[in-house]
Amino acid sequence: MRDIRNKIDLEKLVKTFYDRATKDDLIGHYFTSVIPIDWDRHIPIIISFWSNILFNSGEYKGGMMYKHMNLNYLSAFEEKHFDRWLALWNDTVDQLFVGPQANEVKYRAKTIAVIMQTKLGVFRGED
Ligand code: HEM
Repeated sequence: MRDIRNKIDLEKLVKTFYDRATKDDLIGHYFTSVIPIDWDRHIPIIISFWSNILFNSGEYKGGMMYKHMNLNYLSAFEEKHFDRWLALWNDTVDQLFVGPQANEVKYRAKTIAVIMQTKLGVFRGED
């Protein structure tokens, strides 16, 4: 196994991840019924998002928080949704790649997920 080196690698990662995410019992419905995704449009956006993070490509124009605020409004997020998203992401990365860039996409997903949950008011662990 090797590290994530280019956009072709990112495409493989992203396609494998969303293939699993859409079939997932906890979060699949977000992609299929909450927002029925147009994958031909969505996949390049997600690749540009990660390409921005790993290769500083300047391609992704932003607005992801707004998209997830809308999702949260349509079907309220809970911490278990983020836990599953991250588990699937980490698992998919580990299945396909190994190295500093692979670690970076796992680390960044985690920190973004924490920020997202804070902004959306998905509180963790309190009663
Ligand atoms: C509970 C966890 C999550 C679910 C169920 C989820 C689901 C979705 C869905 C359905 C969309 C499409 C929204 C639309 O087009 O209106 C979307 C967009 C997106 N998501 Fe997530 N997401 C989650 C967490 C995350 C995390 C943690 C990240 C990043 C690390 C992320 C990155 C993105 C990006 C970059 C987009 C594209 C935004 C754009 O169109 O500009 N998501 N997500």
